[in-house]
Amino acid sequence: MARYLITGGCGFVGSHLADALLLRGDDVVVLDNMSTGKRGNLDASVRVVEGDVSDPDAVSGAIKGCVGVFHLAGIASVAYCNEHWREGHLTNQTGSVTVFEAAARAGHIPVVYTSSAAVYGDAGAGPIAETRPTRPMTAYGADKLGSELHGSIAHGVHGLSTVGFRPFNIYGPRQDPSSAYSGVISIFNDRIGRGLPVTVFGDGMQTRDFVFVADVVSFLLAGMAHADAAAGQVFNICTGRTTTLLDLIGILGRLHGITPEVRHGEARVGDIRDSLGDPARAASLLGASAHVPLEKGLSILLGRD
Ligand SMILES: NC(=O)c1ccc[n+]([C@@H]2O[C@H](COP(=O)([O-])OP(=O)(O)OC[C@H]3O[C@@H](n4cnc5c(N)ncnc54)[C@H](O)[C@@H]3O)[C@@H](O)[C@H]2O)c1
Repeated sequence: MARYLITGGCGFVGSHLADALLLRGDDVVVLDNMSTGKRGNLDASVRVVEGDVSDPDAVSGAIKGCVGVFHLAGIASVAYCNEHWREGHLTNQTGSVTVFEAAARAGHIPVVYTSSAAVYGDAGAGPIAETRPTRPMTAYGADKLGSELHGSIAHGVHGLSTVGFRPFNIYGPRQDPSSAYSGVISIFNDRIGRGLPVTVFGDGMQTRDFVFVADVVSFLLAGMAHADAAAGQVFNICTGRTTTLLDLIGILGRLHGITPEVRHGEARVGDIRDSLGDPARAASLLGASAHVPLEKGLSILLGRD
């Protein structure tokens, strides 16, 4: 039995990762400050250390006895990070450096961490490969890119195996629909399920690459399995399939058996029109790819599968 530390493990993605590790017989320790995470997302067998990922003592305490770290703690909301610039920076970038340093000092324990597709900014149409220039447009994206740079330094200067991931739009059970900062699928699904109208900003023809949380977990596990071979690199987590917001609303409507009422608000300044990832690098170097089609993932989200 190997023990892994998951920072941010009480959150949406981290709790699914914890389930997968437990299922294969591993032991899990979680470090979380409970800002958005919930203890109830995790199995009772998981040891939860309440603390901040930017606190070196908390991280080095939690890391003891672990063979690998999944660093997922983050303030996942772009809007929140724009409004709380320094706070976001402390968690999203200083937190990453804190984890890398603690892992290096604890004996070069490999670190798999979540960056974000936000590092690309508005990269335009067409599949975005990891070689596309990065142009973050938000504090969140800047801190994620900063974390990647430090991840590469961790490898180049300190010999630490770090593998970064740039998830596109993740969805699945346990994504909190009550948060104004939550993902579009959980918000639309919640409103359509309650028969409420949904608001799209602009014409609704914006496109996104929606990836189901179980697929995300398989990318993260593949990153850890190949941590030495892939050290210092970053990979997209995406499907390579594109969906417009109006299509998404249509699918959710079908699954709920209703025709949703769509309201159009003003297009939001800074909103990205198209976001589609190229999954080739993770497939060829890590053997990881997304398998769950959107309809299937949504039906699991609705508890129908
Ligand atoms: N959900 C997405 O679509 C998406 C897309 C790209 C990247 N990501 C990244 O993936 C990671 C996980 O995202 P998620 O959707 O599960 O978010 P989440 O909010 O559900 O989980 C984040 C967890 O981190 C914890 N946390 C926040 N600040 C902390 C701090 N200072 N110290 C310790 N713990 C802290 C929260 O309490 C929560 O449990 C984040 O780094 C996020 O930026 C998510």
